[in-house]
Amino acid sequence: MLLFSNGPGAAAKLRRLSPRLLFVPAALVFFSIVLLGRNTSFSSRRSFFSFFGGACPPTPDSQPPSPNAIPNQVHFVHIFNNGVTDFDFQFKHFLSIYATHHYWRPDAIYLHTNADEAAIERAQTEGTGKGGKTNKWNKLIFNSVPNLRVNRVEVPKTAGNGMAINVIEHKSDFVRTEVVRKMGGVYLDFDAHALRDVSPLRECGFAAIFGRQLHGQINNGVFFSRKYSLLLNRWWEEMNKVYNGGWTTHGNGVLTWLGPRLAGMAGGEVLILEQDALNPGSWEVEDNIKLFGLHNETASNLPATFKDGDPLPTYLDTNEERWTLVRDKKKHPAWERDYSSTWVLHAFDPVRNRDPVPGFKHITPRYVFERKSNFARAVYPVAKAMYDAGLVKADDLYKGED
Ligand SMILES: *[C@@H]1O[C@H](CO)[C@@H](O)[C@H](O)[C@H]1NC(C)=O
Repeated sequence: MLLFSNGPGAAAKLRRLSPRLLFVPAALVFFSIVLLGRNTSFSSRRSFFSFFGGACPPTPDSQPPSPNAIPNQVHFVHIFNNGVTDFDFQFKHFLSIYATHHYWRPDAIYLHTNADEAAIERAQTEGTGKGGKTNKWNKLIFNSVPNLRVNRVEVPKTAGNGMAINVIEHKSDFVRTEVVRKMGGVYLDFDAHALRDVSPLRECGFAAIFGRQLHGQINNGVFFSRKYSLLLNRWWEEMNKVYNGGWTTHGNGVLTWLGPRLAGMAGGEVLILEQDALNPGSWEVEDNIKLFGLHNETASNLPATFKDGDPLPTYLDTNEERWTLVRDKKKHPAWERDYSSTWVLHAFDPVRNRDPVPGFKHITPRYVFERKSNFARAVYPVAKAMYDAGLVKADDLYKGED
C-alpha cells in the first residue's frame, strides 16, 4: 500500500484500480506468509516473524512440538531445615501445583525435597503432617496430582566459593537452579499460579525465558529453560562465585546483568518478558492489598448455603466476555484487574509484611470461591476444577479459616 501513499490523489488512484489488480499483490503476500510460516524449519520461521517485529508465533496444534521446545515438566522445591521432616502443605500449595496440571498437563511435576523417605511415605499414605496430625492437603498433593514425582535432593551447605549457605530461601535458590539446569522445564515458587497454557512460550524456540519484576530486576521465582541452556549454565557458575549471603545477589542479581547480555546473542538463548507476564504486582504492601484485598461491597459468589453437588458458576475468560467496551460492571466490577497478558501470577505472599490485608490471613477454599479479590478471581477456575473433581468439598469451605 506504500506504493499509493505519496502524492495527491493517491486515494483516487486506489479507487480507480480494479479489485482484480489489487488481488494479485494481496495474494502474493498471503501465500508467502503461509509458505514461510508453515513449511520451513522452526528457527527460520521465528526469524521470519521477528522480521515483522512480532514475538514468537504460537505453534499450531497440528504441529509436533519443536525439538527446541522447553520440556513440559514442572519443578517445585520444598526443602526443610534440619530437624523438620513432615510435610505441612496447605490449600495454597495444592492450588499452585494443581494449576499446572489443569492448564499444562505436564509430562512430570517434580517435587524436589530433602524430606526423608519415611516422611514422604507418611504424607502419601496417612497424609500425616506436622505434629503427627492428618493433613488433607498433603494427602491430595501426593495422591491426586497426575504425574507428580517426588525427587529427593541433597541441599548444599556451602556455595562454590566456600561461603556457608544458611538461609533456607538461598538453599532453595541453589536447588532450583541446579535441577532446572540438569533437567529442563518450568520452575515455580509455591506462590506462583499458572493462569493459562504456556506452550506457545515453551515452544517458541528460546532456550530460557525469564520475567521482570517491579523496578525491573529479573525474577527467579518463575522461569523456563531447556536443560543445560547457556543462561542456566552461566548462572549456576556465577551464583557459586558471587554468593555472599545477600538476599538476591546470587539470584535476581546475577540474572539481571547476565540475562540481558545473553538475550542479545544469536540463536535465541534468552527471552526476557515484561513484568505483567510472570510477576504482576509485587511484595509491597500496596500491591498485597490490590491482589488479596477483600471487596466486601461485591456479592459473594457462594450462595448462603452450599452443599456438595451444588454447581459452582463458570466464568468465561474470553476477551469478548470480559473486556469489551460494554463490559458488564456487575459481573466485572471496576476493581477487577485484567490478567489477559499474564501467563503465571507470581502472587508474592503478604505474610512477609505481617498481615497487611484487612480481613485476609491466608488462602482458603472459601476465600477463593467467594471471588471477592483479584487473586480469588484469577485462580477460581482451578479451585472450581478441584471442586468439580471432588477433591475440594463443601465441607472444606468452613475449615481452616484462621
Ligand atoms: C471486609 O470484611 C472483613 C470481615 O469479613 C474485614 O475484616 C475487612 O476489613 C473488610 N475489608 C474492607 C476493605 O472493608
